[in-house]
Amino acid sequence: MRAMNGATFGARYDAIISEPRMRALYGASGYFNTGYWPAGVTKLVDACDRLVDEIASVIPSDAQTMVDVGCGLGAGTRRIADRFPAALVVGLNLSLWQLAQVKARGVGALVTDAARQALASDAIDAVTAIESPQHFDTRAHFFAEAHRVLRPGGVLTLSDMLFINEETIGAWMLPPANRITTLADYTRTLADAGFVDINVRDATDICWRPYCAAMRGVFAGHEDSLRAIEESLSFYLLASARKADIPRISASMQNEVVSSSEPHHGVSG
Ligand SMILES: C[S@@+](CC[C@H](N)C(=O)[O-])C[C@H]1O[C@@H](n2cnc3c(N)ncnc32)[C@H](O)[C@@H]1O
Repeated sequence: MRAMNGATFGARYDAIISEPRMRALYGASGYFNTGYWPAGVTKLVDACDRLVDEIASVIPSDAQTMVDVGCGLGAGTRRIADRFPAALVVGLNLSLWQLAQVKARGVGALVTDAARQALASDAIDAVTAIESPQHFDTRAHFFAEAHRVLRPGGVLTLSDMLFINEETIGAWMLPPANRITTLADYTRTLADAGFVDINVRDATDICWRPYCAAMRGVFAGHEDSLRAIEESLSFYLLASARKADIPRISASMQNEVVSSSEPHHGVSG
């Protein structure tokens, strides 16, 4: 469990988001992420929109219930809700101050820890986490919770940052127990939580590098710190995974043996 309680962590995080140079970067957009910068995207807020679109692109169009874990000020949550107008979309966060702004954007807001979610099991069609799992205590607990709250067949889709060390950014923000530095270990951690159809891809060059360049525009004179921050990251990644379906009884089962990808919980012979 993290050293400081959730409210203290949230208040400290709020101060970072509100810092004047961060406000200069994001304006009133309600974002706090690196963005996704394909050719032609030159503005941070446009890149933030593209990151949300990239993460949401794997969510089935008939999804009805979604949670956005570590939702920040809710711009990404709002964009997901706009993409799925018939769905119930709720942002999850430790900070009440951030959640008040999420609510003001017209989406649901729930104060809960990503690693211990106050949600029922088997209830959610899609779990998103836009650049927040680096803070969780730990990803393994978050993945276990995401797997628990998703209905069979539900989707987890996210972006995440793997840091080589915690000191540069601050151990209060990056719990040392959460350290994963390779994509292979990341994939294994998702599989250990029970996920299938796992896709993990390196997005460092399309997310992290252009963001660091944008940071240099507003943090002039801090080149050494910026270089240390840039080099403390091993990977920025995009990942998606699915909770296995439970097979439905169908007539075809009379004629064939149907295999299930669901983990076996029963007594084996
Ligand atoms: C980098 S910001 C990303 C915010 C937002 N997803 C966006 O893209 O603009 C990380 C967010 O995760 C939240 N967070 C950090 N640890 C958390 C936890 N254990 N449970 C829930 N939210 C958490 C922070 O308060 C912050 O809102």
